[in-house]
Amino acid sequence: MNNTTLRIDIVCVVPQSIESPMSTSIVGRARERGIVDLHLHNLHDYAKDRFRHIDDTPYGGGAGMIIQCEPVFDCIEKLLAERTYDDVIYLTPDGEQLTQKICNDLSLKKNLILLAGHYKGIDQRIRDTLVTREISIGDYVLTGGEIAAAVLTDAIVRLIPGVVGDAESVLDDSFMHDVLDAPHYTKPADFRGLKVPDVLLGGNHAAIRRWREEQSLRKTQERRPDLLKGKS
Ligand code: ADE
Repeated sequence: MNNTTLRIDIVCVVPQSIESPMSTSIVGRARERGIVDLHLHNLHDYAKDRFRHIDDTPYGGGAGMIIQCEPVFDCIEKLLAERTYDDVIYLTPDGEQLTQKICNDLSLKKNLILLAGHYKGIDQRIRDTLVTREISIGDYVLTGGEIAAAVLTDAIVRLIPGVVGDAESVLDDSFMHDVLDAPHYTKPADFRGLKVPDVLLGGNHAAIRRWREEQSLRKTQERRPDLLKGKS
């Protein structure tokens, strides 16, 4: 690994559920090329009993199981003893909502721990002491935080220079300038009578840029007017 490598440690209950998306395509290639150093940690490896239990019933009663302090502290403290981390991020539906800006910021970090919960949640003492930031990937509840951790990792990794072949393609994405992306077309120019807009075929780059800006703005006004608030 070189000294610009981003290291991400994902601490979770079911690492198998994200092994494939974290090993294939663009993220997989970034790992092979040493741009990202990704490690999956199974909390069951830190269980104390032979049944590998890491959860128990909630104090005060109620449905669902809670991940216990000890396996999480043991795993994360081991990592913290090995290197300095910029953040220990807990993925949870009651966290701060993920945005492109947060992804941009995190892509500049050096070492990150992503903690994914499961069952009903994790013991609050983990959140109070080890966790430095809490992120939600949207207002819905998943069966576990693993997929949320994979989503966050994917969104961060693709921003690291050199990971996506065409750097401009990343800079033009939806949300990068608080607007949604313009429509895209490829060959053929006429598919069953469905035509590509003339402006894109003409080679007039200024006109194409103008058209894309107009399309972006119109789509954003229609679908996400909230993104334009505060913009003149
Ligand atoms: N775990 C379960 N649901 C989640 C969500 N929406 N975001 C982050 N982590 C989660």
